[in-house]
Amino acid sequence: MRVIAVANQKGGVGKTTIAVNLAAGLANAKYSVCLVDCDPQANASTSLYNREEIKTTLTEVVCTRWDHSIPGRPSKLPFLSIHDAIYETEMDRLDLIPSSLGLAQFDREPATVIDRMVEAIHEIAPDYDVVIIDTPPNLGLLFTAALKSANHVLVPIAAQYLPLEGVGDLLLSLEELLARKKLTFLGSVINQFDVRTTLSKEALMKVKKDNVLGPCLFATMVSTNTKLAEAPAFHVPINLMDPVTPGVTRAMQQFEELTFEVLDRLHLPQLKTEAPLLREVK
Ligand SMILES: Nc1ncnc2c1ncn2[C@@H]1O[C@H](COP(=O)(O)OP(=O)(O)OP(=O)(O)O)[C@@H](O)[C@H]1O
Ligand SMILES: [Mg+2]
Repeated sequence: MRVIAVANQKGGVGKTTIAVNLAAGLANAKYSVCLVDCDPQANASTSLYNREEIKTTLTEVVCTRWDHSIPGRPSKLPFLSIHDAIYETEMDRLDLIPSSLGLAQFDREPATVIDRMVEAIHEIAPDYDVVIIDTPPNLGLLFTAALKSANHVLVPIAAQYLPLEGVGDLLLSLEELLARKKLTFLGSVINQFDVRTTLSKEALMKVKKDNVLGPCLFATMVSTNTKLAEAPAFHVPINLMDPVTPGVTRAMQQFEELTFEVLDRLHLPQLKTEAPLLREVK
C-alpha cells in the first residue's frame, strides 16, 4: 500500500497544486493512481472535475447522513460505499474521490469518524499503485484522519514566506506517527520558487538548513508559473494543457522530474512515458 498525504497546515502553499499534478504525473508514468480530496474546499476535486458533474463524494462515505423526509423525525441513513464515490478523470489511470463543503462536518462527528476514513481509504488502496491525499489547511480531525490513512507524507513549502511558518507545529503533529513507523517522511518540496527574488533564495537556504526538511528536500522545485494556476479552470492537470506555451512545457517538465524523484523514493521503477494519455471514451 502506498498512500501519500500532501500536508502543510499553512494555507495556500501549493498542497492541492502538487497533489493534483503529482497524481497526474504518476498516472502518466504508467502507474494507476487515485487522488482523494480530504479538504472541504474541494479544490482538488474541481481541478479535475466540473462541480456540477459530481454527485457522490467522500462526505457521504464518512459523515453521518440524515433522512429528513418525515417532518420532525430525522433518521440516519447508511453510509455510502467508497466505491460509489470514485470518478474516472479525463486522464488514463487517474481516478478521483471528490470532496464537498459538507466534509467540514467531519470535525464535529464522533471520533469513530477517523476509523471510517482510514477503513475507506484502505479499502480502495490495494486497487491502485499509489493513492494521493490532498489535506486541509489546519491540524483538525480531518487532517488527523488523512494522515492516519497514509503511510507517507509529502510537505510542500512555499518559497514566498521567509520563516518556515508553522512547519514546526506540523512536524510536531506528525511526530507520533513517524516515531511509531506508521508514516515515513517522503520529502519536502519547494513551491512557488522564483529564482529572481531574494526571498525565494533565502527561503531555500532556510529549508536546506532545517534538520528535518533539509535532508529530504526534493531536488526539483516548482517555479511560480501562471499556467499552474490556470489549469484548474479547465479541470485538467498541467500535463493535459496544450504545451504550446513555454510556461506549460516548463511546469510539465518540473512535475515529470518531481514524479521521477517520488518514484525513486517509493522504490518504483521509472517507466518510459510518451505523450499524456487521455482516457478512451467508452
Ligand atoms: N507554482 C505555482 N505557480 C503559480 N501559482 C501557484 C503555484 N502553486 C500554487 N499556485 C496557486 O496558488 C494558490 C494556492 O495554491 P494551492 O491551492 O495549491 O495551495 P493549498 O496549499 O492547497 O491551499 P489551501 O491551504 O487553501 O488548500 C492557487 O490559486 C494556485 O493555483
Ligand atoms: Mg488545497
